[in-house]
Amino acid sequence: MKLASTEVASVAGLVMDLCGILLDESKGYLIESRLAPIAQQHGLGSYTELVHKARTSYDKPLLKQIINAITTNETLFFRDDSPFDALQHKALPELIDSKAKTPFPKRLRIWSAACSTGQEPYSIAMTLHELIPDIHSWDVNILATDICDAAVEQASSGTYTAFEVERGMKANYLERYLVRHQNNWKVRDELRALISFQHLNLMSPFTGMGPFDIVFCRNVAIYFTPEGRRDVFKRISQTLTRDGYLFVGCAESLADLGPQFTPHHHCRGMFYRPNLPPLGDPARAASPLMAGRK
Ligand SMILES: C[S@@+](CC[C@H](N)C(=O)[O-])C[C@H]1O[C@@H](n2cnc3c(N)ncnc32)[C@H](O)[C@@H]1O
Repeated sequence: MKLASTEVASVAGLVMDLCGILLDESKGYLIESRLAPIAQQHGLGSYTELVHKARTSYDKPLLKQIINAITTNETLFFRDDSPFDALQHKALPELIDSKAKTPFPKRLRIWSAACSTGQEPYSIAMTLHELIPDIHSWDVNILATDICDAAVEQASSGTYTAFEVERGMKANYLERYLVRHQNNWKVRDELRALISFQHLNLMSPFTGMGPFDIVFCRNVAIYFTPEGRRDVFKRISQTLTRDGYLFVGCAESLADLGPQFTPHHHCRGMFYRPNLPPLGDPARAASPLMAGRK
């Protein structure tokens, strides 16, 4: 079904309202390839009719279908490697040391925001497992969220094809953390138990979420407008503990967010940490990063 140039704005407006993803004139091919099958399935003759039905019928399954089709779920195990090296060799050891001085020395809260089909939170869970041999005596939760229901469903099932497993999985981890399941592979229950999966739109308020010791928000904000992207990272900063760690995609930078975050480099990997004034400095209480915190 051909997309008329006059229809681009209304489709883009719908997608923006549903999930904050920016589509411009250059994305006509993407709209056609991903939304035409949905329009046809619903017996709609044009994209204008599809937008009208989505906006007026409050047909939730249709809205979900559009979101599932328009999101790009590309991901792989240990994507880019270096963030997971920095996690294993720098962030986690530092965190474990600093936790020893807190009332909850064995509690870890991690958020994989936009987890797609789950390879990212499972890679985090495997890294934790490798580093913390007595992980079962810890209170660990990795919250893994995504707007795409189909992706969250697969993530939660922990089932992967041989092709998906070949992308990034380390051979010794495959044996340790996955089992054969018919023609596929399935993540072992003990690893899955560390993760809770949920549907979440990053454009919605993060009410009641956090505080997290570590947040991964990688390769999703690139799809948002510059304002949408800045807003998401500002709100994520408010879910982090004051000595938390934020991992973003390798091609992403938070330089334009101002002095809220300081970049830290390790093992060719990079993460950001909240940039708080020192303890006792009145500016600390006034910092936006302290909003809602004791
Ligand atoms: C390219 S994948 C990145 C997955 C993983 N973080 C990684 O780096 O491999 C982008 C994910 O962002 C999700 N996404 C897009 N818009 C979103 C939104 N508004 N809220 C939550 N997730 C969103 C998509 O469904 C998709 O699974």
